[in-house]
Amino acid sequence: MKDLIKKLPKAELHLHIEGTLEPELMFRLAKKNNIYIPYKTVKEVKKAYNFSSLQSFLDIYYAGAKVLITEEDFFDLTWEYLLKCKEQNIVHTEIMFDPQTHTCRGVKFKTVVNGITKALEKAKDELEISSFLIMSFLRHLSQEEAFATLKEAEPFKEKIIAIGLDSSELGNPPKKFKDVFNEAKKQGYKLVAHAGEEGDVSYIWGALDILHVDRIDHGIRCDEDNRLISYLKEKQVPLTICPLSNVKLKAVKSMEKHNILKLLKQGLNVTVNSDDPAYFGGYLNENYEVLVESLGMSEEELKRLVENSFKASFLSI
Ligand code: ADE
Ligand code: ZN
Repeated sequence: MKDLIKKLPKAELHLHIEGTLEPELMFRLAKKNNIYIPYKTVKEVKKAYNFSSLQSFLDIYYAGAKVLITEEDFFDLTWEYLLKCKEQNIVHTEIMFDPQTHTCRGVKFKTVVNGITKALEKAKDELEISSFLIMSFLRHLSQEEAFATLKEAEPFKEKIIAIGLDSSELGNPPKKFKDVFNEAKKQGYKLVAHAGEEGDVSYIWGALDILHVDRIDHGIRCDEDNRLISYLKEKQVPLTICPLSNVKLKAVKSMEKHNILKLLKQGLNVTVNSDDPAYFGGYLNENYEVLVESLGMSEEELKRLVENSFKASFLSI
């Protein structure tokens, strides 16, 4: 199965580029840019990556992102991930980035977008990897700040396919971003949102009914509501699920208890993704592998999940 997982061409739909920052690159950029990080060795970093919740991860993740300053830094970050894609036979990737994580530190919006897109263009030419970019709003910030970010994106509109919503879910429900998502839709963006990662089913319903998203990121708590399961099945709304992330952030007690294959069996359009692979102990193939090891995933299920990764992508538009 490990060979088959590696051999199959795959698409990845839920990946935060800031979450691909490996400790080695973090150290190199911290030194180059003279930024303080609270670790001395890779071993110390790995020890700190022991999370009790989404928030405990986000605190460390935002601190790590502070080493990213120049366009070249964003290029290097993205290029390293794309080389990993080549190694893992990921032929299409839809990458999320969080501009507010950087603009609030004085890094220019164009520095972030230009660095990332230069790497994406190079990967198209040299690695034969296609990609789209998804700009996510940080939901712990206000809707006004999201509107300001949408405005900043205007000159780069043709480089960004969709708008997303991430960061601290609990206490920041979809309705907080109703107007800005509405505006983004009017401007022609596709829409996605994290929902039902830690939050209950009301967050998933809110993302569907209030934000009108095309995909749900995570959505694993959908199994608490039979009507929601029926809706997701009937409409074939994609769920971009991230098994290693869910266990690492304690959204799920153990991999053996993960519901991804149960949802697949029920006919939902579920996909496998890596979320923040540098922090969660594995890239895309490792996320598939763990489903074999812990849940006994069959070859047929693997092929269906891989098919779904293309079916749920924005390639078809
Ligand atoms: N930002 C990066 N990873 C995230 C996750 N798993 N949930 C919410 N926001 C995130
Ligand atoms: Zn995510």
